[in-house]
Amino acid sequence: MKIEIIKKQQSGLAKIDFNNLQFGDTFSDHMITMDYHDQCWKTPTIKPYGAFELFPGNCYLHYGQAVFEGLKAFKTPNGKINIFRPDAHYQRLNNSSQRLCIPKMDYDTFIKPLTQLLQIDSAWIPDKKGCSLYIRPVIFATDNFIGVKISDTYTYFVITSPVGAYYKGGLMPTRLTTSGEHVRTIKGILGEAKTPANYAASLLPQEIAKKNGFSQVLWLDGIEKQYIDEVGTANVFFLIGDELITPPLDGSILAGITRDSIITLAKDWGITVCERRISIDEVFESAKQNTLKEIFSTGTAVVISPVGEIEHNGKSIVINNNEIGHLSQRLYDEITAIQYGEKEDRFGWCLTI
Ligand code: PLP
Ligand code: COI
Repeated sequence: MKIEIIKKQQSGLAKIDFNNLQFGDTFSDHMITMDYHDQCWKTPTIKPYGAFELFPGNCYLHYGQAVFEGLKAFKTPNGKINIFRPDAHYQRLNNSSQRLCIPKMDYDTFIKPLTQLLQIDSAWIPDKKGCSLYIRPVIFATDNFIGVKISDTYTYFVITSPVGAYYKGGLMPTRLTTSGEHVRTIKGILGEAKTPANYAASLLPQEIAKKNGFSQVLWLDGIEKQYIDEVGTANVFFLIGDELITPPLDGSILAGITRDSIITLAKDWGITVCERRISIDEVFESAKQNTLKEIFSTGTAVVISPVGEIEHNGKSIVINNNEIGHLSQRLYDEITAIQYGEKEDRFGWCLTI
């Protein structure tokens, strides 16, 4: 496969403080871009990170026809690079594309430029535990046309960003609140696609939650406002009694790849995992009955994030004394050990380059 490469003259690496990485404000030297027109994806280019030129009539700017992904690369103790579950992220990118009427791409077109980009910018992958290189592939429509229609042309790009923990406190219990006023989605809209509109819908409720001292919104279903969907940027699990419960993939939530990894690990450890609807009332009732042991959210950016408190309709519950639960910690340790290449990758999740 042909890949055009234009190297940056002077790396920005020296300006980066790798001991103080935040999430998402730093970009590596190079990016991938690739255009789609005349019904096919063209030659990908790896070039210096830089701005795009867009026409004001760009249909993405008007109607939001775009999809994206978020995955991570890690430095292993022997200096190799582990990309975590790129095949699953590729598959979900295509699933999202299908919902947004965006042309699919084949796996080689996704993975070959990506592995080359990571090799070129390998010095940008932090080697400190807890840090990683966040990879953000995006496809957006580029027709210069303001009637509402499916675009005939697209741009795919991949940027990467060395990141620390998503939350400033790292692996610390978070406070979540339900939203009385807003819903994120309902089945049949866009909830199961990774597309900007879902995040646009979450901004105002997220801001309200933040002002009230919460880290994220715990989304309830958009119809009955009873059943738990997911957290702002993550899926969610409840350890009640000896059962690990997580909402099912019913079309309204994102099919998290961390969610799938956690289900696999928990089952492998002999834990009963139930993918079923769970209502906020059931969660509050289990707290009352003292059977609610742990709640945690899962996602590429947050990894595992313990939940210490939930507020709903003016009432709140504290979970596990607002401390990191035993299972949350064990899952965090296991998944990160596999990602950083410290433990055998027995499920074949990492692509090592
Ligand atoms: N749900 C939403 C809305 C998300 O933004 C994310 C993050 O990507 C997730 C769930 C978790 O998905 P994954 O584990 O694949 O990162
Ligand atoms: C991720 O976890 O990869 C996300 O996409 C979350 C967020 C940064 C949008």
